[in-house]
Amino acid sequence: MSVSRIIGVHARRVWDSRGLPTVEVEVALAGGGRGRAIAPAGASCGSREAIELRDGGAAFGGKGVARAVANVEAYIAPALIGLDATDQAAVDARIEALDPGPAFAALGGNAVVATSLAVLHAAAAASGEPLWRHLARSRGTCPSLPLPEIQIFGGGAHAAKRVDVQDFMIMAPGAASFDEAMAITAEVYRAAGRCMAERGKLAGVADEGGWWPDFASNEDALDMLMRAIEAAGETPGDRVVISLDIAATQFRDGDGYRLALDDTRLDTDALIEKLGGWIDRYPIAAIEDPVAEDDDAGFRAFARAYGDRVQLVGDDYLVTDAARVAWAAGEGACNTALIKVNQAGTVSRAIAALDAAKRAGWGTIVSARSGESEDVSISHLAVGLDSGQLKVGSFARSERMAKWNECLRIEEALGADARFAAGAPLAATWWGQARAPIRNGEYA
Ligand code: PGA
Ligand code: ZN
Repeated sequence: MSVSRIIGVHARRVWDSRGLPTVEVEVALAGGGRGRAIAPAGASCGSREAIELRDGGAAFGGKGVARAVANVEAYIAPALIGLDATDQAAVDARIEALDPGPAFAALGGNAVVATSLAVLHAAAAASGEPLWRHLARSRGTCPSLPLPEIQIFGGGAHAAKRVDVQDFMIMAPGAASFDEAMAITAEVYRAAGRCMAERGKLAGVADEGGWWPDFASNEDALDMLMRAIEAAGETPGDRVVISLDIAATQFRDGDGYRLALDDTRLDTDALIEKLGGWIDRYPIAAIEDPVAEDDDAGFRAFARAYGDRVQLVGDDYLVTDAARVAWAAGEGACNTALIKVNQAGTVSRAIAALDAAKRAGWGTIVSARSGESEDVSISHLAVGLDSGQLKVGSFARSERMAKWNECLRIEEALGADARFAAGAPLAATWWGQARAPIRNGEYA
């Protein structure tokens, strides 16, 4: 214990990938070990997730973090001094005791997540191991390289609602390794840029680095994605499949949905039917938040209709909450959980949600937020927790590439022991289903 005893916790303001303030925390241990982490920030947040504490007022559009930084220094640091950093559960329980409400509204989820992750990094440093190995060893899991889920076009709240759908992504379950998945994605991403340029539609990138979605309809984006996959020399649905984050909470309109780009209002059944039409026409293997976070009946209906054909991923719906995951599993409302540490607040709560999903036989996807930084904690979590999948955003902007590149380093470190999770049974099932409906040339 003595080398892993926490002797210092310090917070500072740093800046995220949107140029907004965020919280960084550094933890020092008696034996010289150090850990550091930066809080990410969402734009399309679930209403039940841990609450970011922002200063309000005129500066930085109200997004200052002076209060969150001060809370680390004044309340969290004194409470953690003397604790054993390797006992993450005890550390996180102490933080929870300071702010027993459900959403860390008093301390700030941003203060909490940066501290909790920094302690985890410090514990790994004390053990002399990289974080992924420390996690895998302490939990007795077999580390694996995740199947990456990578955005090609960004939309929704990440692109001024230029299209309704938030993420048009690809996965490459046919890749033989993480490294090969990166290479395949690089070609698709570049091809998508070329295809946009040929149409005179190239207009920079959205928040997570996906191409800015200058499209006439949501289907237009899907067709362009198909074209890009083919231009990269791939057959859609063969090694490469499509995944979508609908982020439907963002276009909830009363008890229905308003698709601004199509200028239509749909009820839940019509939205599900529309998405089902896409599943029939395109090689879609995963759909996230197809309906809004408060549309329980919609989630259940979507799961009944398509849950055996695609990964049905809960993000805003599950908010990385173990109890909600267990409840949704009982309801048959999803089959995969998105895992965002800052939705939960602490590392322990996030891992509890991941474990609940695994117990339910679900897939798990460790995920970044739209506001990110050079922090690469999630790459280590995905490998060390054997999540199977990792969602980081696009294939551009260094706050994204830092995570992908960290996975490449880990894959190299594992060498012959590297296990690429793409072949996991669940992914293989959905991949197989996504391959089935391909009818070449049927899209525009
Ligand atoms: P967010 O988006 O970080 O803005 O919430 C990511 C997602 O919806 O998956
Ligand atoms: Zn999402």
